[in-house]
Amino acid sequence: MCGIVGYVGNKNAQDFLISGLKRLEYRGYDSAGIVTLDSKGEATLLRAKGKISNLEEKLAKNKREDKIGIGHTRWATHGEPSEANAHPHQAGSIYLVHNGIIENYKELKETLKEHEFKSETDTEVLAALINSFYKDGKHSLINAVVQALKLAKGTYGIAVVSCKAPDEIVVARSGSPLVVGIGHDETLIASDASALVGHTKQAIYLNDGEVALVKKDSIEIKTLNAEPVSAKVEEIETNLAAIQKGGYDHFLLKEIMEQPESLKETLRGRVNLEARTVHLGGPGLSEDELRKIKHLVIVGCGTAYHAGLLAGYYIEQFTPEITVETVIASEYRYRNAYIPEDSVALIVSQSGETADTLACLREIKKQGVKTIGIVNAIGSTISREVDGGTYVHVGPEISVASTKAFTSQVIAMVIFGLTIAQAKGVKPSILYPYIKEIAAMPEAIRETLESVHEKVKKIANKYTKYDHAVYLGRDTAYPTAMEGALKLKEISYVDANAYAFGELKHGPLALIDDRFFELALLPEGHLYDKAISNVQEVLARGGKIIAVTNVKKFDMKVEDVIEIPDTLEIFAPILMNLVSQLFAYYMTVAKGYNVDQPRNLAKSVTVE
Ligand code: G6P
Repeated sequence: MCGIVGYVGNKNAQDFLISGLKRLEYRGYDSAGIVTLDSKGEATLLRAKGKISNLEEKLAKNKREDKIGIGHTRWATHGEPSEANAHPHQAGSIYLVHNGIIENYKELKETLKEHEFKSETDTEVLAALINSFYKDGKHSLINAVVQALKLAKGTYGIAVVSCKAPDEIVVARSGSPLVVGIGHDETLIASDASALVGHTKQAIYLNDGEVALVKKDSIEIKTLNAEPVSAKVEEIETNLAAIQKGGYDHFLLKEIMEQPESLKETLRGRVNLEARTVHLGGPGLSEDELRKIKHLVIVGCGTAYHAGLLAGYYIEQFTPEITVETVIASEYRYRNAYIPEDSVALIVSQSGETADTLACLREIKKQGVKTIGIVNAIGSTISREVDGGTYVHVGPEISVASTKAFTSQVIAMVIFGLTIAQAKGVKPSILYPYIKEIAAMPEAIRETLESVHEKVKKIANKYTKYDHAVYLGRDTAYPTAMEGALKLKEISYVDANAYAFGELKHGPLALIDDRFFELALLPEGHLYDKAISNVQEVLARGGKIIAVTNVKKFDMKVEDVIEIPDTLEIFAPILMNLVSQLFAYYMTVAKGYNVDQPRNLAKSVTVE
């Protein structure tokens, strides 16, 4: 969602702001803007609806040598996408960019009669509120910001500059991330460390309730209650290659193809094939605590939710006396759900910033339940608030549709399940087949991607005229089908839904006609014959089936067959999901849509 950047130093601020905003484009946005100040405090404000390229057109006519400024990509919440609603917002000498939502903006607006509002945004209200404390010179910029934030309810990450203090940026956060990058004679600000990559490796992640006065050679942090904070300087691990397309046409394809390596990173040091064991350091649970676990709640949104569903199926297979409940965060946070004793909650999030997932984490913690993060983004809010955690380490995922994170989230959770099973004394002969396949998975993924790629591309091109799709699976192939359908709808805008094969007769079978095609995931296994009977039912009603299977010599008369290598049995659905990922990708390319930034969606949903 919205992105923030800021710069104060000796270099050209406009240049950094534009390049930083481009790095944040992947988060999803509908307008963009920057403001810079010259040494006398004269402001140059540029804003544009739509892509950053529109902003660049304005910039070409308004080049400045200014050395300080802030910028923003906006994802509309209050007010339509338009230039007037784009940030930065101005009030008096104040310019403000803001991520999040000021919930009491209407009440606050009532008290700010002097300001003539030019936008429909909650952000302009906050700018006017800051200005009301700042304008008569009684408060320094940082103190005016603090006074205003004490009255604001909601979530925010903000950056503020004033024409009256052209060497200062004030930043603050509550629920929306902000990173301050420390350079040589320059300080950089971003809502996401990827904007800082290549500029500095040293960063301070602000915590909720903190505000900072940032100058080119100093950073002073305090709480809203004026207590000084001694900041922890952390290393930004991401490198430039990880956030570039590296020869691929789209980030999505790069991220799909990266999965053999990204999964290797997830497994590093965690699977010992010789000893036939797995090991996770991050959760920080003792053997005794692991042994006592009777119930897992897995919380996530979107793809992370599907990863949780799939992992839950696996964990229940090999762990006795354990139940797994996977829940959608936006629902669970408002359910008055009782979590039984001896439960642990897995909080799954690629970005580590998803608002609903974070809210669930906080609710669950209130019940005294141990929380374990399954997170990708290092230093993210969820990763910092959980009791323990396992980073999936897949590197930056830029494309809005999540791919490599899914694969690694599933496996990281399965490994967590295996550590519980080990502690509970489950026989190694039961666990070893899982451990063996996990260790073999990076290579199996590489082989599958290679063997299916061209065929999937061809078949996807054949189905571009369809606007409706049904994905089908049983058992572990069912959550996998859900994830496949989500991928297709997210980026190709095909109305794709997934059903458990066994549910077909209870409704979805009525859908089958020539407007639809059906993608059936058919792994070999104990439910294969039942799934085949379901396929027959669809065929009998004129369904057009694409079968994805690891069964050798699959001989059903379906429209298309995509065979995957039979290298894995237990985790074959994960290989099938690679087919779904590539299929969605090529359908989207064929339809000519924006693969990496689908309409209306954001990579990281930081507001409710
Ligand atoms: C957004 C993204 C999805 C993602 C979901 C959860 O909707 O577009 O790709 O699965 O958020 O994100 P998280 O960062 O919590 O995994």
